[in-house]
Amino acid sequence: MITRIMTHCLERVLFDDVTITSRVAQLGREISLDYRGQGHSLLVVGVLKGAAIFMADLVRCIDLPLTIDYMAVSSYRSGTCTSGTVNVHKDLDTEIEGRHVLLVEDIVDSGLTLSYLYNLLQNRRPASLRVCVLLDKPSRRLEPFRPDYCGFEIPDVFVVGYGLDYNERFRHLPYIAVLNAKE
Ligand code: IMP
Repeated sequence: MITRIMTHCLERVLFDDVTITSRVAQLGREISLDYRGQGHSLLVVGVLKGAAIFMADLVRCIDLPLTIDYMAVSSYRSGTCTSGTVNVHKDLDTEIEGRHVLLVEDIVDSGLTLSYLYNLLQNRRPASLRVCVLLDKPSRRLEPFRPDYCGFEIPDVFVVGYGLDYNERFRHLPYIAVLNAKE
């Protein structure tokens, strides 16, 4: 199944679909327990496009009343390299003052994007603001940032699949794979 869409651009599979499904379900259970009894419904905010697939699976594993919204942030990266600017292309449709907000992102790498988004949303005075990432590359940090929930910590490799892309390719893969460094 995996080899069906495994291409020569990919070096190896890091997490297969079964492993991802199981970890996302665990995260959903953890989040459900942590937010239980908060009184107000949770607002789950996905960062497009990378978090779209993770977010869709995660919210279906959260057993609480919730609403969802999305932000779109420009990728300041070309291929696997960063240039350092964060641009918001689509802001929230929802007022978040007084709401419990869970921000969902695909990966924290340098930490620049999430630090920027965290400060932006915190300034709108939510009741609480937490961050859930599927992947964390702690060795790559330029800005100190610790997500509240993390699917998997990974080493300094460029990964694709399950929403993550390389120049818009590979987002649809059901697994997470390491991109071949020669590509
Ligand atoms: P930051 O460097 O933590 O600001 O991460 C910015 C964005 O870069 C993430 O939201 C991802 O979209 C993208 N990114 C970082 N590392 C990878 C990777 O290994 N594969 C695909 N996208 C990545």
